[in-house]
Amino acid sequence: MINTTGKVLKDLLKAADEGGYAIPMFNYTDLWDQMAVLEAARELHAPVMFASIPKTVNEIGIDILGAIGKIRMNENDFPIIHHLDHSNSVDLCKKAVDAGYPSVMIDASRETLEKNIKMTKAVVEYAHLYDVCVEAEIGKIKGRDYEASFDGGDFLVQVDDAVKLVEETGVDTLAVGIGTAHGFYQGKPEINFKRLAEVNEALDIPLVLHGGTGIPEEDVRKAIKNGINKVNIGTQIRYTYMSNVSRIVQEKGAVTHTIDIMQEARPYIKQVALDWIRICMADGKA
Ligand code: 13P
Repeated sequence: MINTTGKVLKDLLKAADEGGYAIPMFNYTDLWDQMAVLEAARELHAPVMFASIPKTVNEIGIDILGAIGKIRMNENDFPIIHHLDHSNSVDLCKKAVDAGYPSVMIDASRETLEKNIKMTKAVVEYAHLYDVCVEAEIGKIKGRDYEASFDGGDFLVQVDDAVKLVEETGVDTLAVGIGTAHGFYQGKPEINFKRLAEVNEALDIPLVLHGGTGIPEEDVRKAIKNGINKVNIGTQIRYTYMSNVSRIVQEKGAVTHTIDIMQEARPYIKQVALDWIRICMADGKA
């Protein structure tokens, strides 16, 4: 059993940085896709993160998810990390800390730099009392987002802003807007590797790549080479989950027991996680 704290995550990210790989983070919606992701982690002995977004938290409840997360993290003889992804509420981040999440993200990237700093600092001050790791975001992840949508052109992270945010908040990890988007891409994503390298050069903390779904393997690897230590995948998990459940229900009828449908769908979700663990080169790294 591992006492999974923010320090454990920081050590994992440091090892990833030194070893030239990344920790994959998978969004889950419920117990079924969570199980699939964790089965993949066990099979490949990979350090992974499994994360709830506010949409899931609002539906199921932070205390329930926190309790399940704690059980999951303690099931293994190697660390896996439960994370709150894309919270734009300081209060929700604090509640996640109280519920036992060892890692939270405060996403105030839509706000002014000053407000982003203020909100991030408030989360860091609280989270660090309990050894919880905090991720912030600067620049913007394009495309459909969980709480709102963003289609503007000023998505790119500014190096000076990133330095100021990190210096003034003491945040642990940083998601950077470098051209990636949430959801499926139309065409090939245009990632600004030059800006990524510049931010990495200016900062001494792990950087996070959002919008994993649809980024070609060679671009993920190039991003890892240029300073990315954590890669987020969400849409591909949900799409694989729903498309397979829908197919199985059509084939077998809705009278089929839920468990039988989920058992049949689960290997497909697990396969997505297996593929991404390998793309991130995290297999065998736990
Ligand atoms: P995708 O949904 O595009 O894979 O992005 C997931 C993500 O970045 C979650 O934070």
